Order: sequence, then C-alpha cells, then structure tokens
Amino acid sequence: MANSSSHSLAPGPKGFFFLKSVIDFYRDPVRLFAELHRDHGNIVRLQGGPYCAHLITQPEQIKYVLQDNAKNYRQGEAFQETIPVVGRGLTTNSGPSWLKQRRMVQFAFQHKHVAAYGDGIVSATEAYLPRWNENIKSETPINIDAEILRLNHLILGKLLFSVDFKEGDPFLDAFAVVRKVSIDRVRSLIKLPSSRRFKQAVDLLDEFAYRRIAEHRRETSSVDILSMLMQARDEETGSGMTDAELHDEIMTLFFAAYEDVANAIAWTWVLLSQNPEVEDRLRSEIQNVVGRRPPTAADLRELPYVSMLVNEVLRMYPTTWSLLRDAVNDDQIDGFHIPAGSMILIDTCLTQRLPQYWPDPEKFDPERFSPERSAGRPRFAYFPFGGGPRQCIGNELALMEIKLILVRMVQLYRFKLVSLGPIQMNALSSLQPRGGVWAKVFAV
Ligand code: HEM
Repeated sequence: MANSSSHSLAPGPKGFFFLKSVIDFYRDPVRLFAELHRDHGNIVRLQGGPYCAHLITQPEQIKYVLQDNAKNYRQGEAFQETIPVVGRGLTTNSGPSWLKQRRMVQFAFQHKHVAAYGDGIVSATEAYLPRWNENIKSETPINIDAEILRLNHLILGKLLFSVDFKEGDPFLDAFAVVRKVSIDRVRSLIKLPSSRRFKQAVDLLDEFAYRRIAEHRRETSSVDILSMLMQARDEETGSGMTDAELHDEIMTLFFAAYEDVANAIAWTWVLLSQNPEVEDRLRSEIQNVVGRRPPTAADLRELPYVSMLVNEVLRMYPTTWSLLRDAVNDDQIDGFHIPAGSMILIDTCLTQRLPQYWPDPEKFDPERFSPERSAGRPRFAYFPFGGGPRQCIGNELALMEIKLILVRMVQLYRFKLVSLGPIQMNALSSLQPRGGVWAKVFAV
C-alpha cells in the first residue's frame, strides 16, 4: 500500500462538519463512523488543527495496519491513561520490551494450559448460578450483564491468582474505581489530576498484587496464571519476570479481561430473545451432546453450533469494538497520505457488517460461520480479537469461558427479557448493552 509517492488527502468532513463529528463522537461513535463511511467512502480523514486521524474500514486496509506493516503503527496513546494501574504491561508496552514480555505471557496461554482453566470456570459457574433460584421464586428480574460481570470477576480471581473473591471484595471495588477513572480520562479532553480516591484504590490494588506475588513465590503449589507467569523464561537470557513485571502483567490481564465476556453473553441473550428458532437449535445441540451434566472444555469440540453462534454474536457485537493505532512514520493507504503521528481508527462493528462480506448484515445467522460459507472470506472481514502481533492473548480462554457459561445457563434456565424497547449499544471501552439486559428467569 505504500508504493506510491502521492500526497493526496483522503476525503472527510471539514470545518463545521469536523466539529460536529467531534461532538457526535462523544454521543454515539458507532453511528458517527457508519455515517462517515457512508458519506466519504472506505477511508475517511478527520482533520482539525493539529489533530489528524483516519478511519479505515476495509479488510485489506486493516490487515495492512494491524499485521503487514504493524511496525509502523504502534498501539494508540489512549492506553497510556491506564499506566498508573497496569504499569508497563502488554497493552501499554511497546518495542523489544513488549516482544520479550509477550512471549513470556504467551506461555500461560498455550493451548494445553488454557484447556486446564476450564475446570475453574465451570466450578465457579456452578457455585454462582443457583443464586438465580431466588429470582425464580420471587419473580424478580436479573440484569444478565451485571450478573455475569460479577461471575467473570470471581472466575478471574481464581484463574489469575487462586483467590476466592467475595461480593463487595475491596479488590473488586478498587478495580471498579480505577477502571472507571482511567476510561473517563481516555475519553475526556481536559485531563484533571488524579483524585485521592483513585490513588487510594491504586495503592490497595498494588498492595494486593505484590502480596499475592510474594505468597506465590513462597508456596509453589498454586496452578494459576500467576504461577505460569512465574515459570515463564525469556528464551535468550533464561531469566524470569521481576515482581514489578509480574504485577504489571497480572493487572493488565485483569484490566483486559474485565468485562468483554459479560457483555458478549448479555448480547447473546438479546439476540436469542429475538431469534427463538436459533435458541431452539442451541438447546437441542446442548441437550444431545451434554445433557444435564456440567460441561467440560473437551465437550466444546462437539458443539459446533455453540461455536458458530458465539462467533456470530461477536460479529454483530464485537465487544472490543475500536482499535487505535498511531502512525510512526509517514505512510500511504490506498494512495492517501498518512502523516507521521496521526491516528488510525478501526471500528470492528462497521467492518464486520459490510454487506459485501456479510449479506443481510443485520440478520443474526450463526450459519454464516459454517465451513462452507466461511470459505474465501478475507481474514480481516472478521476480527473480534484483533490480529497481527497484538492479537488478543486471551482469545482462546475468552471463547472457552463464554461457551462454558452459556452452555450452563442454557441447561439450567430460560430467560424472558423485560428490558423495554430495543437495547442500544453503549460504546465505551467495551460495547455494552445500554441499561443492561433485564430478564425474568425460569427453571428448565
Ligand atoms: C470476549 C472477550 C475478549 C475480547 C472481545 C477481546 C478483544 C481484544 C482485542 C480486539 C485486542 C486487540 C487490541 C488492539 O489490537 O488494539 C485484545 C488485546 C488483549 N487482550 Fe483481549 N479480549 C477479550 C478477552 C480477553 C481475556 C479473557 C484476556 C486475558 C485473560 C485478554 C487479554 C488481552 C491482552 C493482554 C491484550 C493486549 C495484547 C497485546 O497488546 O500484546 N483479553 N483483546
């Protein structure tokens, strides 16, 4: 893409329309990007004063930025706001130090290790779901999104550092504070100094993480992601991670894994409520293959419809919906000039609904992911976990977790949504169902 020396500028909104785009971005970025693509084409330049960004929309462009020429496109500055919490973990690190850490963290996410995390997911789910029996009795609805968010945190506590969090655990409260503050800071134009509450929450998290690291160094019997990270060795030097590196990676993982699984499951129930024939098929596959017993990671291989369905949910609602990069050097994409220092915006939601790759894109149709219908589709027409060197390290774990929880929910319960009207997307750090997904619960 970089072989012409033209300096032509990509089309885009100018003057008043640029300012309007900035305002619309804060209101509804997914809608704004869809309108920019409709009005200006496959690559859109957003320029106002020193600010310059390009929205790219096509699989080949995205492949180029995330994968083929990834060296020229470093992780966007936005993540830097999380440094007080996650230090120099994978999402904020770059260059040779990122590569060294990435290889070591990868060790904990090797296929054989991920499969072993399945038991922890299932046992936490087993312990958690019966609380809904109270809601069945009292006929009070649950917010599926908030409920699975809590379950996800209990699972993360176990998988990451073998801790059984209680509801209202100080660690979880502190994490909620730092996450909200960091995300608000990413979105706000004026950066205020950190509040005392934020600093106290960071201190509490640091204290917890370093204590857990020290405990793990003493007793080596734990089998969790932290212990894997301790075992990982740098190929070249043979050395392991320092306590500070362990802290940064473990906090990064908690941050990165915080809410997407819950949002994906919440969207799944929104889509199932609108597509009862899909739900019937899902239930019969689970009934035939697993019956009533709790599922295992090995069962998932025998559940192709569950896999296609989860893929389709993440096509329509790719929870990590926006990927940001900063151009290091001047470049060109499709013959248009990309200045050094400018930003690249990728909206996964938009690309994964392009009609040329996804006919009838608004239709929820898991069969799109059958091997026959997937053949010939470009790699970057579908990328809910990103791609290239910075592809999500928790990809396999996340899919396994979503499927195991979903299967158990289907086996034990039915849900009738009581949220009023169509549920809108709230595009914050993760694509959330606005107002949550409220549903009445029924025993199967
Ligand atoms: C449905 C769930 C998830 C989704 C949709 C998701 C999506 C993504 C995406 C799109 C990226 C790439 C970001 C970019 O290129 O800018 C990413 C990166 C990352 N994800 Fe996930 N993720 C999920 C769950 C998880 C889980 C469970 C973990 C860990 C336990 C995790 C850890 C990470 C980390 C550490 C990175 C940064 C990798 C790097 O820069 O080297 N994610 N994720």
